[in-house]
Amino acid sequence: MVDVLFLGPGYPAEMPHFVRGLAEVGARVIGVGDQPLDAVPWMARQAMAHYVQVESWADEDAVMRTVHDALRGRNVDLVETLWEPTVVVAARLRESIGAPGLGVRQALTFRDKGLMKEALAHAGIRLPYAFRATTADAVRQAAARVGYPLIVKPIAGAGSLDTYRVDDPGELERVMPWLAHIDEVSVEEFVDGEEFTYDTICAGGRIAHFNICEYRPRPLVGKQVEWISQQVIAHRDVDAPGLAGGRAMGEAVIAAMGVTSGFTHMEWYRTWGGEVVFGEIAARAPGGRLVDLMNYVSDIDAFRGWAEAVCYGSFSQDTTRRYNVAQVIKRAQGEGRISHVEGMEHLLSIMGEHIVNVDLLAVGQQRRDWKQVVLSDGIVVARHPDLHAVYAMADRIGTDLQMYASW
Ligand SMILES: Nc1ncnc2c1ncn2[C@@H]1O[C@H](COP(=O)(O)OP(=O)(O)O)[C@@H](O)[C@H]1O
Ligand SMILES: [Mg+2]
Repeated sequence: MVDVLFLGPGYPAEMPHFVRGLAEVGARVIGVGDQPLDAVPWMARQAMAHYVQVESWADEDAVMRTVHDALRGRNVDLVETLWEPTVVVAARLRESIGAPGLGVRQALTFRDKGLMKEALAHAGIRLPYAFRATTADAVRQAAARVGYPLIVKPIAGAGSLDTYRVDDPGELERVMPWLAHIDEVSVEEFVDGEEFTYDTICAGGRIAHFNICEYRPRPLVGKQVEWISQQVIAHRDVDAPGLAGGRAMGEAVIAAMGVTSGFTHMEWYRTWGGEVVFGEIAARAPGGRLVDLMNYVSDIDAFRGWAEAVCYGSFSQDTTRRYNVAQVIKRAQGEGRISHVEGMEHLLSIMGEHIVNVDLLAVGQQRRDWKQVVLSDGIVVARHPDLHAVYAMADRIGTDLQMYASW
């Protein structure tokens, strides 16, 4: 029996599925979380053999002490986590326990976009031209060297927060005060083009399964314009010529980062001229329900597949790709509570057989903060064997389905 210490079993929302997957492949799970046990979702609670509560993830030294005290006399074979803020502390626990997998140095290389780029530049990966800066003057100097348009963003960022496209020095001065609360930023060449993911499950030192999603439009645009219904399209035909460069880059990046087991989530750009440029990579599963999309492409259970991969170094599910899958993220018009939803019946009547998930806020629920929350006021997911059919359905869901809110 494999004993797995799993950090963060209850949050974010996907985590209980990974814990469930571990239990299903026969692992014994010790959960570590900052929630009281009864706040952990039932699916995870049912799948754990034991639970250790820590006060806060923010104090890593305290987490180390609490976990070590709680584990005295217990066996631990693996330490796993799939949430960005716990990637480094998981590596610290691995090293202190002597468990295999990502060490602290490697984990830091994933967390710090500057270190990441140094490691990848070394391996010959095409990166955006960039400088790191900790002061306003350093930002100005970096901007002068990079040129315009450029991007400024936190070195340790997430979810496109505090990320700005800047078109000229005047705009840089206007943006600067908004960066004051950030310790260190990256000032980089603005890479114009389309944006994709390359997500993998590695097992036994090789890439056992991967998935490519396309963001329509680019996340930064979707984050700035409220009326946009952001789409994420999981591609069926990963052998398409337009994706070959991203796949090759993905494989080279996995090798350079030294990943041997578990999930990775990479983002890459394809310029209008067809050049492939690296975006970022994380040592965890993609968020925003992208694992669900992976599942809908091949009718697999990637949560369980991940568990098999980390516990036994294998991935035995049939990953034949049958569908392109579109997730469309909806935002209500107006503020306050959802008052009504228009167009769903019509969409179901014309494409119902292709819609695999509808998860929208219900009438009466409070609207979410679309600047802070990736999935805004809810999602609709459709799939079809043909890519152009899926684009067309996603666009119809974007325009014909409307949610309204009022006080
Ligand atoms: N150098 C760049 N050129 C063009 N767009 C960028 C660049 N860096 C970031 N962006 C945009 O900002 C978004 C967020 O940046 P990213 O590096 O992915 O950080 P995170 O997702 O962790 O917030 C990207 O998805 C992309 O749309
Ligand atoms: Mg990103």
